[in-house]
Amino acid sequence: MDIEGASAIVTGGAGGLGAATARRLVSLGVSVVIADLAEDAGGRLADELGPAARFVRTDVTDESSMRAAVDAASESGPLRIAVAAHGGPVAGSRILDRSNQPYDLDVFRRTLDIYLVGTFNALRLSAARMVEAPALDSGQRGVVINTASIAAFEGQIGQSDYAAAKGGVVGLGLVAARDLAPLGIRVMTIAPGTFFTPAFQMSEEDAQERWGGAIPNPRRMGRPDEYARLVQAIAENDYLNGEVIRIDGAHRFGPR
Ligand SMILES: NC(=O)c1ccc[n+]([C@@H]2O[C@H](COP(=O)([O-])OP(=O)(O)OC[C@H]3O[C@@H](n4cnc5c(N)ncnc54)[C@H](O)[C@@H]3O)[C@@H](O)[C@H]2O)c1
Repeated sequence: MDIEGASAIVTGGAGGLGAATARRLVSLGVSVVIADLAEDAGGRLADELGPAARFVRTDVTDESSMRAAVDAASESGPLRIAVAAHGGPVAGSRILDRSNQPYDLDVFRRTLDIYLVGTFNALRLSAARMVEAPALDSGQRGVVINTASIAAFEGQIGQSDYAAAKGGVVGLGLVAARDLAPLGIRVMTIAPGTFFTPAFQMSEEDAQERWGGAIPNPRRMGRPDEYARLVQAIAENDYLNGEVIRIDGAHRFGPR
């Protein structure tokens, strides 16, 4: 797909992976709506990126909020790229704690709401807008790119809610690609390993020291622009559809 002149929406666009994606898409001639809860970071990034970028305060779990962000994205061109990269730190603990008390059901529900329901909300509303854009000569209209995690496959101790949500995002991908295929809309899923972003809430040096050494090659955490370059490759290559791509330096999570 030729993406120049298209419009994109990036949920979590003020965060680590989302901001790198917004930067890269703008550099490729795409107009980007940074759809995020974080007003300060989102506003700063929009200022940095100039007129091709706009921050719209968005809660992905809320129908009307997400609709407004999609509306804003389609004001600056046909919406052809929707990237779901929202989320953030998840505390998590074992299903039974040290005193054998069960994991809080509301916390579990909330994690699923943000990571899985929010991703589906962004996907369905973006697709509904993409379908209104004229098809390109290739018959394609656009692409939805969701973010899972390698925790979808190798969930670690204490990650029951996060791994379940990300497993849901993986399961959603092929169904969505099949559902939307007749409309010329592709759906892809990226499963990142360990990328240094604000979600780690520590300095890059400390994070690299703690996690970098466990990654086979390159022996370091991922860089957000490496994720963004995968987004670009997926958007540009029409034959990528209905698949999950791990981007993890050959990392496989152990139990902890
Ligand atoms: N960083 C990693 O190592 C890694 C690995 C695997 C998967 N992921 C996934 O990638 C995505 C982005 O992670 P990141 O590391 O860039 O995180 P991040 O914390 O840097 O950014 C996430 C952004 O999402 C926003 N957000 C949170 N809740 C939201 C909501 N309800 N509506 C809209 N925006 C909301 C936050 O304000 C933040 O700006 C997450 O889904 C995460 O699970 C990250």
